[in-house]
Amino acid sequence: MIIIIDFGSQYNQLIARRVRENGVFCRIEPPGIPLEAIRRLKPEGIILSGGPSSIYETGSPKVDPAVFDLGIPVLGICYGMQFMTAALGGRVARAAKREYGFAELSIRSAAGLFKSVGRSTPCWMSHGDSIQRLPKGFEATASTGNTRFAAAAAPQRKLYGVQFHPEVAHTPKGGVILKNFIFSICGCRRSWTMKSFAREAVADIRQSVGDHRKAILGLSGGVDSSVAAVLIHRAIGKRLTCIFVDNGLLRRHEAEQLKITLKKHLDLNIRFVNAGRRFLKALAGVTDPERKRKIIGRVFMEVFEAEARKIKGAGFLGQGTLYPDVIESVSAFGGPSAVIKSHHNVGGLPKRMKLKLVEPLKYLFKDEVRELGRELGLPDELVWRQPFPGPGLGIRILGEISPRRLNILRNVDTILIEEIKAAGYYKQLWQSFAVLLPIKSVGVMGDARTYENIAAIRAVTSRDAMTADWARLPHAFLAKVSNRIINEVDGVNRVVYDISSKPPSTIEWE
Ligand code: XMP
Repeated sequence: MIIIIDFGSQYNQLIARRVRENGVFCRIEPPGIPLEAIRRLKPEGIILSGGPSSIYETGSPKVDPAVFDLGIPVLGICYGMQFMTAALGGRVARAAKREYGFAELSIRSAAGLFKSVGRSTPCWMSHGDSIQRLPKGFEATASTGNTRFAAAAAPQRKLYGVQFHPEVAHTPKGGVILKNFIFSICGCRRSWTMKSFAREAVADIRQSVGDHRKAILGLSGGVDSSVAAVLIHRAIGKRLTCIFVDNGLLRRHEAEQLKITLKKHLDLNIRFVNAGRRFLKALAGVTDPERKRKIIGRVFMEVFEAEARKIKGAGFLGQGTLYPDVIESVSAFGGPSAVIKSHHNVGGLPKRMKLKLVEPLKYLFKDEVRELGRELGLPDELVWRQPFPGPGLGIRILGEISPRRLNILRNVDTILIEEIKAAGYYKQLWQSFAVLLPIKSVGVMGDARTYENIAAIRAVTSRDAMTADWARLPHAFLAKVSNRIINEVDGVNRVVYDISSKPPSTIEWE
């Protein structure tokens, strides 16, 4: 295993992915991680990430400098290299010239990190500080036009540093450099596969839940909660009860289809709760987006808790929390003691019902969860489902939610998804959906004037929903969708396409 110390770089998750793509497990840990905790994890190597700070700034992140004496290979990237330099007695200062973008790397020593890289290769730089003097025992191993110490090493101590970013695609030989570190220097083996992950996760769950206790899990029909459910089910069988709440805000036929898929294919023990009426009653007349979200969250909680209390003797709550949520909350709180973000929908439940959390996916990225889902034999329709928000169509109907407006949006959404799937875009898009606007516009149908609703279409690409770009869907495709919607859906006479990215917009409209 490799540990990545998170100094705040926007590329941290990318480093983690690069390591895992090589079949080696890695974890991202905050800089405050105690030395003892590092030792316990028994990593083969440590990567100190880049970060936005300057090392002499007050409050700049620091890891215990004793990591350099553990005998474990360390690779410092950008800020990580500067930290290592300063901690071991070298000198770092503001560079006369900030270096940002491509630079040509001249390699002095083809050994160690730079084995099979060649004499010179492009690299991606992004730093304001630079190293003026190396610590004792270090030698420069590469330079660029602006940066004398673009890479340095103390091979006898297994310490390595690079000023550039090997993890980004702009450094074409970055993959080779990281492989050299992981395999030649750290001596890792390729043992991290979804098969091995599944096996270990099942054993872990079995051990923490024990032989007799029970667990519950909120199943949304999305890939995360489904994969979590299947893993827990493999570990404890029918002692896992899943609860699926139909909040009346799902898409057309969604609840029925999920019922069939989840029950038939996965043999899970599921309780379906039909609470649509209750949600719609609580939402009647509400137009404010935050109030809607709060009401949906509260009613979900009440319904879920009432159902959960019927399952006597449950001691655990399973959740499909993913790694990006965990890292985000750890970084935000700045320490290993940080509370991990729990799913907003069941936030207070573990405490009130004295349940322990089981989160078997908390070290995985979304694409890894999909791969795991395939490994576990989940059907494609589940593995490739686009994310769907807990509050469902409730936050896609702007303004008041009524059965009539729900019906209109469902009709629009059904056409859109049908066409997206038929054109083969469904898997390529992070999400694609329709939004019903709270205003009407004038149109003409036949010879008559109409005054009807507007539907907006949103389709985005993204890797993790933190940022997203609007999808450049072909005009001919949009024309077909718009045509079908206006012709087939009663109550809609205009369709618009959302061309905003996140940030500054969000993916959902509310
Ligand atoms: P935004 O709109 O913030 O959404 O860009 C980011 C991602 O999160 C989903 N989303 C939610 N998921 N409960 C959920 O389970 C929610 O309340 C919620 N709000 C937004 C959204 O669909 C997108 O994938």
